[in-house]
Amino acid sequence: MILALINQKGGCGKSSTCFHLAGAFAAAGHRVLLVDADPQGSLSQGFFGSAEVEGLVAEMTLAVLFDDDRLVSSPQSIIQPTSVENVSLAPANQHLAPFNTPSPEAAGMRQYVLREFLESAPGYDIVLIDCPPNLYLCSWAAIVAADYVLIPVPPEDFGTQGLRAVHQAIENARALNPGLRRLGHLITRSDRRLVIHRSYEQRLRELYRELVLDTVIPEASAFKVALACRTPVELYARDTAAAVATRTLAEEILARVAERNRKRQVA
Ligand SMILES: Nc1ncnc2c1ncn2[C@@H]1O[C@H](COP(=O)(O)OP(=O)(O)OP(=O)(O)O)[C@@H](O)[C@H]1O
Ligand SMILES: [Mg+2]
Repeated sequence: MILALINQKGGCGKSSTCFHLAGAFAAAGHRVLLVDADPQGSLSQGFFGSAEVEGLVAEMTLAVLFDDDRLVSSPQSIIQPTSVENVSLAPANQHLAPFNTPSPEAAGMRQYVLREFLESAPGYDIVLIDCPPNLYLCSWAAIVAADYVLIPVPPEDFGTQGLRAVHQAIENARALNPGLRRLGHLITRSDRRLVIHRSYEQRLRELYRELVLDTVIPEASAFKVALACRTPVELYARDTAAAVATRTLAEEILARVAERNRKRQVA
């Protein structure tokens, strides 16, 4: 199962969700590959620290897949183990930035590099792709490669224009990837004590109905503290509300995917 997390809104919890979700899936026995498709490299830094990630040469990062001048004999060579058992990572850093171009549909074969990369990297149960806060080539290549898209949304983003653009990109990507499905919107960073957050959640559920996940990720310091300790919250503090929400999310994702597969088989 290949799941891309996209939203052109920054800071909505894409990288944080990938980081902590990987821990929850791995603890449940799944082999997880994380793909950092963001030139900011936040997900990579979560595991390896900023100095190490900034120091990675292009050949050790996702950039090499997009660069016609650099041929890698084995694309899997950029995949590294992490400190978390069953979690591997294909890292990114600033070397990816020049390849994250607008108008991705004009990018020729580069649109397919993540799909080809993942086809050449078997042996994982779950792949999570973390995308930058735009719909340029890196996000586009991610949804061309993915089976499902998850759209993290903080409950304060009242411009639905941004979400419409995300849905349009998914629609367009189906021309290259007909099997692409929307897993749904994931409400992140929620504080249900706030009226504004509760009313946003209600509005989003009215608007998108079953395309909003039941699980809501709360705003919780445990996510930040665990990240600072380079450990997904499931392994850092599994009894916290943050870890419970992340486990529930992992279970809901697998249940939704199983339900979609069942419906497809019946059809
Ligand atoms: N549920 C949460 N509770 C508390 N802090 C959170 C939560 N989700 C994310 N954060 C924190 O908010 C900041 C932004 O989150 P994150 O980096 O995951 O967003 P992003 O969508 O990946 O941003 P970008 O678009 O820049 O890539 C980080 O410091 C992260 O630790
Ligand atoms: Mg991010």
